[in-house]
Amino acid sequence: MKKRYLVTAALPYANGPLHIGHLAGAYLPADIYVRYLRLMGRDVVFVCGSDEHGAAITVKARKEGTTPQAIVDKYHVLLRDTFQKIGISFDVYHRTSAPLHHETSQEFFMKLYEKGEFSEETTEQYYDEVAGQFLADRYIIGTCPVCANPDAYGDQCEKCGSTLSPTELKDPRSTLSGSTPVKRPTKHWFLRLDQHENWLREWVNNGTLNGEQLHDPAQWKNHVLGQCNSWLDQGFQPRAMTRDLDWGIDVPKQIPDSAGKKLYVWFDAPIGYISATKQWAIDNNKDWKPYWQDPETALIHFVGKDNIVFHCLIFPAILKANGDYILPVNVPANQFLNLEGRKLSTSKNWAVWVHEYCEEFKGQEDALRYNMIRKMPEQIDSEFTWKGFQETNNNELVNNLANFVNRVLVLTHKYYEGVTPEADQNQAFKSGWEADTNGDFSNEIARIRAKLLEMGDFIEAFQLREGLRSVMELSSAGNALLQFNEPWKAVKTDPEQVKTVMHLALQYVAALSVAVRPFLPDAADKLRTMLQLPALREQGDLSDLLDQLGRSESPVPAGHRIGAAEHLFSRIPDEVIEAQIQKLQATDLANQQATANTPATITYAPLKETITFDDFAKMDIRTGKILTAEKVEKSKKLLKLSVDLGFETRTILSGIAEHFEPEAVVGQQVVVLANLAPRVMMGTESQGMILMAEDADGKLSFVRPTDGWPSGMGVR
Ligand code: 2FM
Ligand code: ZN
Repeated sequence: MKKRYLVTAALPYANGPLHIGHLAGAYLPADIYVRYLRLMGRDVVFVCGSDEHGAAITVKARKEGTTPQAIVDKYHVLLRDTFQKIGISFDVYHRTSAPLHHETSQEFFMKLYEKGEFSEETTEQYYDEVAGQFLADRYIIGTCPVCANPDAYGDQCEKCGSTLSPTELKDPRSTLSGSTPVKRPTKHWFLRLDQHENWLREWVNNGTLNGEQLHDPAQWKNHVLGQCNSWLDQGFQPRAMTRDLDWGIDVPKQIPDSAGKKLYVWFDAPIGYISATKQWAIDNNKDWKPYWQDPETALIHFVGKDNIVFHCLIFPAILKANGDYILPVNVPANQFLNLEGRKLSTSKNWAVWVHEYCEEFKGQEDALRYNMIRKMPEQIDSEFTWKGFQETNNNELVNNLANFVNRVLVLTHKYYEGVTPEADQNQAFKSGWEADTNGDFSNEIARIRAKLLEMGDFIEAFQLREGLRSVMELSSAGNALLQFNEPWKAVKTDPEQVKTVMHLALQYVAALSVAVRPFLPDAADKLRTMLQLPALREQGDLSDLLDQLGRSESPVPAGHRIGAAEHLFSRIPDEVIEAQIQKLQATDLANQQATANTPATITYAPLKETITFDDFAKMDIRTGKILTAEKVEKSKKLLKLSVDLGFETRTILSGIAEHFEPEAVVGQQVVVLANLAPRVMMGTESQGMILMAEDADGKLSFVRPTDGWPSGMGVR
């Protein structure tokens, strides 16, 4: 076992609220793990904060017509408060706009620069000539080379989940202007990931580095290893750690040619974990260094599926390149959570927003946590449904856990006026674990302890669903103890046995008051109050309990007076669930209408090469009027026109036959390129060109002067 733990949860982009997918992916598992460690008395620091840089922020600001600063200020506060409401117990919630973080990231970059970890490369990057700027990956949309989704982003396809680079997209277009971006040279600093490939491969798969065992790869999830290897197998390429942006952390000024360049958001964001730890150390008068630099620290990153590669390969390469830092012992990433059969989507509002849930279900935060854990996508994608949420709440939390606790408290008040009865060590009763088996006081206590240990083993192995199952089995065993021994009948015939049974039942509740803590923190508080036991400090409460049970001691001793029974969980009625389902249906309808009303995305033709004024002045463009029009034999495209230019009449062949009937264009005022060299087509000489506008679908429109304008006038 390591001496201390540093647990991180992915820094969320401060560009939107938190939804249940985020919660199930990273934050809830991290919180469960950390609370468990604290209950075991381990030294742990749990860090997070808002990720306030990167194109995700500027895209949002542009969309809302505001500044990136306004966006991050708004969402930083919303995220921080939402985490607090849903009980995610960070030791520090920092933000990457903090000066401490800017300094930390720049120092890190400088150190890597001085160690020669970067190669400076001038590469061709997409530039939007209309908007006049280089395009961040998120600002480029095109067709995914993997699944042909026409709206894949330059860094990722949201349809198939592939990680992409902008140059891989087919038919790229800029989201800023809609134009086709062009490639322009720009200088950047590339981390030599190719030089880190070999050790990363060995470290990820065997857990060894220079012959030293750093982690147990058997503890890493298969899908995490799979993603890492698929990246490594594609050949690990140098990756630019800088960008041409106007929002972000400046590349240190000491570096030549750094003006106008910013750190890549995926360079600075994970360093945010370090700055957050520094902030925590300042606030608590502690030293941050052992948490990041002492090999006796277990560093664990909780992230969602889309962050795996950054935390398993790229950030470790950055840490190792620095040389002073430890590497993570695990990155227990989850898969995706879907909602009612569909992928969660922030842009389509297909989500359950955690801050809204906390408003609408005040006091029922644990019910959401419970359902999220039951459905946690630990190995494969899973699904949230409102009906499923109602079922886990009503059938499991209310009918199993709350019902058991209520029975024990009510009966203790009824039979013993709320005072814990004595247990007789030699009293026979039926065990809560196996039907028709005679119980034994010490054995029953030992079984409770064993379940708590089993829960801990599961949590330490990042099998949180299983950990929760152990807790619920404890509750079921307590329920069965009552069911098999029927104290409500036996109280008349065998009151001594009932005392022992009720004494033990109270020990189950006491064990649950600690065991539920990582999963359902509010319920733990309520149980402690009901039992009139000291509030949990999350400082070794579980290890103390295990010691106590190991000595066959009762955590609720005979003679201890308990408090009143409270509602631990309440049923969620059908109407409440229906209202939520309707809310989603309304979202669906709004999305369908929006799709129907949205014109197809326009693709703009690329701008042609710049010409001089002299080039332009060479063209003689005149106003004119079509006098006659006829189809050209054997040609689908051409109309033969006679066009009045005022001073003369020209014959012009125009490729508009598929768009206009001849009679429809007679009398049409036009603009003509009059000095175009004559050209013979289909046996007729064409003496000029009619100018037409063409839309994205290839539809044509005449370019024409105001009605009644004389023919033969110059156009310039
Ligand atoms: O995917 C995201 O939401 C990123 N903001 C996660 C960053 S995690 C870490 F590196 F900070
Ligand atoms: Zn795709």
